[in-house]
Amino acid sequence: MRCTPSRSFTNRLRYQQVTYKTHYRHRVLKFWVLAATFFITFFNVHASAVPEAGGQFYRYDEPSRDGLGKIYMGREIARVMGHRGANWLERPEREQKERTDLLFELLALRPGDTVADIGAGTGYFALPIATAIGPSGRVLAVDIQPEMLAIVEERARALQIDNVVLVLATETDPMLPDNDVDLVLMVDAYHEFSSPREVMARVADALSEDGRVVLVEYREEDRAVPIKPLHKMSIDQAKREMAAVGLVLDQVHDNLPWQHVMVFRRQVEAQ
Ligand SMILES: C[S@@+](CC[C@H](N)C(=O)[O-])C[C@H]1O[C@@H](n2cnc3c(N)ncnc32)[C@H](O)[C@@H]1O
Repeated sequence: MRCTPSRSFTNRLRYQQVTYKTHYRHRVLKFWVLAATFFITFFNVHASAVPEAGGQFYRYDEPSRDGLGKIYMGREIARVMGHRGANWLERPEREQKERTDLLFELLALRPGDTVADIGAGTGYFALPIATAIGPSGRVLAVDIQPEMLAIVEERARALQIDNVVLVLATETDPMLPDNDVDLVLMVDAYHEFSSPREVMARVADALSEDGRVVLVEYREEDRAVPIKPLHKMSIDQAKREMAAVGLVLDQVHDNLPWQHVMVFRRQVEAQ
């Protein structure tokens, strides 16, 4: 005897199959929603530790009050001092407070030198250097802010100084000639370069055979120096950052009231 299922039984079976399929689809969907949530959370949490494409030297984090949130060798890069703060660089008490006269002597300039002042600002150093090295020398006043360079130009004209070349840099390139610069000076500027690795690689290439880099930074090791933390740098930090582009510490002058004067040279390659 053939047993035919009743219509209500078949319907119930179909209903169960449909419910099962729907239930199964919900579970698959739930799995993918959970997986997507996990990946989004994971990548958000870890985004700050993943280097930006092409920028393998840096790490990104929540910016602090004075910083970019861009970290280089453990140091958060400071924000650039805008040209509206130019007067601060020319403050009358600067020479006496920071002994910029002593710093000037430490530069040991020679007539005919080619000097690059990177982050020249208002030309506080570039202009007297131009006078000291004489007409056979030249100063490349390098800055990323055209407004700063305009100030340098105006002051050079007023002082009738004509051996200053204005160089509008990019954040990654100081636009220096290769193997030609006797002294690269950076006073209170390097800590705010947004791409220090790229800039310093170019600086290393620009040095003449016995060329020097003079890096002047507020002393991080000295808590009494009244400057914001991101605008200070320790000797150890500077050494590590310069070593990354083949520059070695040759001398440190610590006789200024607030700043390290660190002299770096190209690493001599073993024969
Ligand atoms: C605090 S000011 C110091 C100016 C000058 N060295 C002095 O001591 O009077 C720093 C300067 O560095 C410049 N600067 C910042 N990032 C730079 C970069 N990547 N290349 C060249 N100049 C830069 C700023 O525009 C600013 O004029």
